[in-house]
Parts: sequence; C-alpha cells; structure tokens
Amino acid sequence: MKVHKLEKIILMTGGVTLLLFLSVLFLQNFTFGHHHAAAIETVDPKKTDETAPFNKPGLKKVSEKEWDYELVIVASVFQYSPSEVEIPVGAKVKIIATSKDVIHGLEVVETNINLMLEPGLVTEKIATFRKKGEYLVLCNEYCGNGHHYMSGILKVVD
Ligand code: CUA
Repeated sequence: MKVHKLEKIILMTGGVTLLLFLSVLFLQNFTFGHHHAAAIETVDPKKTDETAPFNKPGLKKVSEKEWDYELVIVASVFQYSPSEVEIPVGAKVKIIATSKDVIHGLEVVETNINLMLEPGLVTEKIATFRKKGEYLVLCNEYCGNGHHYMSGILKVVD
C-alpha cells in the first residue's frame, strides 16, 4: 500500500508532537517529580552531628504533640544511627531522618515506610507500629561499596 505524501507528513507531525509531549512530561518528572513532600527543613550536612535533633539520634518520648515518640535517625556510609531501636507496640512515632553524606534509603521492610534521605534535608514520616516483631531496615538507594550491608533493626515490643 502506498502512503500518500501528505499523509506521511501528517503522520510525522503527529509523531514529532508526541515525542515533544513525552519529552516535556519526562523533563517535568525529572525536574519536579521528586517532591520533597516530607522534607521541609534543611540542615547543614557537615554539621549534622552538632545540629538538633540529629546530635542525639534515637527514640524520645514527647508530649503535647500528635505523636507519642520521635525517632531521630542519621544515615551515613554505611550505617544508621542508631542501628537498633526498640519501639513500644501501638505507639505513634514520628521518624525524623537525614543523611550525613550521600543519598541513602530508609525502608522498613513489611511496612509502608520507604524514605529517601538526602544530605541537607530533613525527612519526616509518622508511623504506628501495630504488630510486635523485628523489622528490618534497609537502604534502598545505592550509596557505595557497603550499600548492601547497610541495615538496621526496629524492634516493636510490649
Ligand atoms: Cu546507604 Cu545504600
């Protein structure tokens, strides 16, 4: 079948338009797609250890807030501080985390907690652990040689 010349041009124009449209979508995603929805505050990554609350990582009971505890986590190559935490079952916990060096992930396996930790940004997430047990914390952003060993444990206890 012979395609008319005009039809060819129309088809090509359609193709180019589609390509342009897809490029714009891609660029938009690339540039704005990664919203720092939970990361509002910033911290000087070189001063993470001196900056509250990251100067004291760990679980703290808080009062007069919508959550019962704050869990401050500092990620660095290739570990979490603290690497092991005990959380009372049923407690509403606000995770407040950052990275000291490169981008790390913080995924709590078997939960919907899956955060990206970037140096200089504070990432927050409120979670309630309703089931007792040990939850593995994994880094799911490639961060270097020790990436595959970067892990932690959340123990949800009575
Ligand atoms: Cu930290 Cu991968």
